[in-house]
Amino acid sequence: MLVTLKQTLQKAQKGRYAVGAFNVNNLEMIQAVVAAAEAEKSPAIISTSEGAIHYAGMEELGALVRLAAGRTKLPITFHLDHGKNVDLIRTAIRSGLYGSVMFDGSSLPYEENVAVTAELVALARKAGVSVEAELGAIAGIEDFVTVEDRDAHLTDPKQAVDFVKRTGCDALAIAVGTKHGAYKFAGDSVLDYARIKKIASIVKIPLVLHGASGVPENVKKVCIQYGCDIEDAKGVSDASIRKAVSLGINKVNIDTDLRIAFDAGVRKFLHDNPKVIDPREILKPAVELMTKVIRQKMKLLGSSGKA
Ligand code: G3H
Ligand code: 13P
Ligand code: ZN
Repeated sequence: MLVTLKQTLQKAQKGRYAVGAFNVNNLEMIQAVVAAAEAEKSPAIISTSEGAIHYAGMEELGALVRLAAGRTKLPITFHLDHGKNVDLIRTAIRSGLYGSVMFDGSSLPYEENVAVTAELVALARKAGVSVEAELGAIAGIEDFVTVEDRDAHLTDPKQAVDFVKRTGCDALAIAVGTKHGAYKFAGDSVLDYARIKKIASIVKIPLVLHGASGVPENVKKVCIQYGCDIEDAKGVSDASIRKAVSLGINKVNIDTDLRIAFDAGVRKFLHDNPKVIDPREILKPAVELMTKVIRQKMKLLGSSGKA
C-alpha cells in the first residue's frame, strides 16, 4: 500500500522509532526493500535520487514501486531524494507517483531555501504529497577543525524552528556530522548528539538523518575479498544510529550500504561461478544480501513489526 511520508513519519514519531529510506536504481533494489519489509513487517521508504531517475526513468521506477506496493498491505512510501532541480520536483509532484519529495536547498542562501521550499510545499499540498526539506550542510564531523566552523555549517536549532514555521515542510533533514558515501570517519563514529537533542526538543516535525550507512564489516569484507578497493571505508556505527533515533530522528537514509551489498553479492557470485552468464542468476545473491542488510537496518531502527 502506498502512503505519504507524513503518514509514515507521524506514526514513527509517536512510536519513537525511525523508518529507513533506501535508495534504489533498479528492479532488484526495489525487490530487496519490499522483501525485507515483508519479512520484518516494517514500513519502508523507497527513495530515488535525481541520478536514479536519469539512470532508470521516473515513470519506470514509479511503475515498479506502485506494482510492488500494490501487492502488499505494508505502508510503502515512494520518495524523491535530494531534489535540486525544481522543474523535476514539480514534475514528480504532479506525476501522481510520489508520496513525498525532498527539496534540497541546503546550498542556497537561507532566504532562498525558505522561499523555494515554501513554494514547493504549496504545490505539494494540493497534490497530497509530503515535502522533506534540508537545512545545514551534510558534512562529516571530522571536516570541521573549529567549533565556530562546525556551528556555521551544521543545522542551527533556532534557524530550524524559523525554517519549519515559514515553509510548512513535513520533515526536516538536519546536518549533525554525518556525510554521504562510504568514508565518513577516520576515527570513531561520533555525531553531534547534543544538536539532535536540542533540535528535536524545539522542532515539532519528524527529523531526518542523511548519510546514515554503517558500512557493515561482514559485507565490506566480502567486497574486499573479491577485489573491491574500499579498505578505509567506515560508516556510522549501530550505536550512533540507536542514539540518534532515541534522541528524535525518525527517518534514516541508506544508500551506500545497499551499494556495498550489491557489489559484494555480484563479485562473489561471478568469482565462484565463472561459467554463468545469466543475469538472473548473477543478481540473485545481490538481492539476497541487500535484503539481509535492509532487514538488519529495520531491526536497528525499531521499525520491525510496526507495519
Ligand atoms: O544522498 C544521495 C544518495 O546517496 C544518492 O546518490 O545521486 O549517486 O544516486 P546518487
Ligand atoms: P549514505 O551514503 O550514508 O548511504 O547516505 C544516503 C543518503 O543520505 C541518501 O539521501
Ligand atoms: Zn542524503
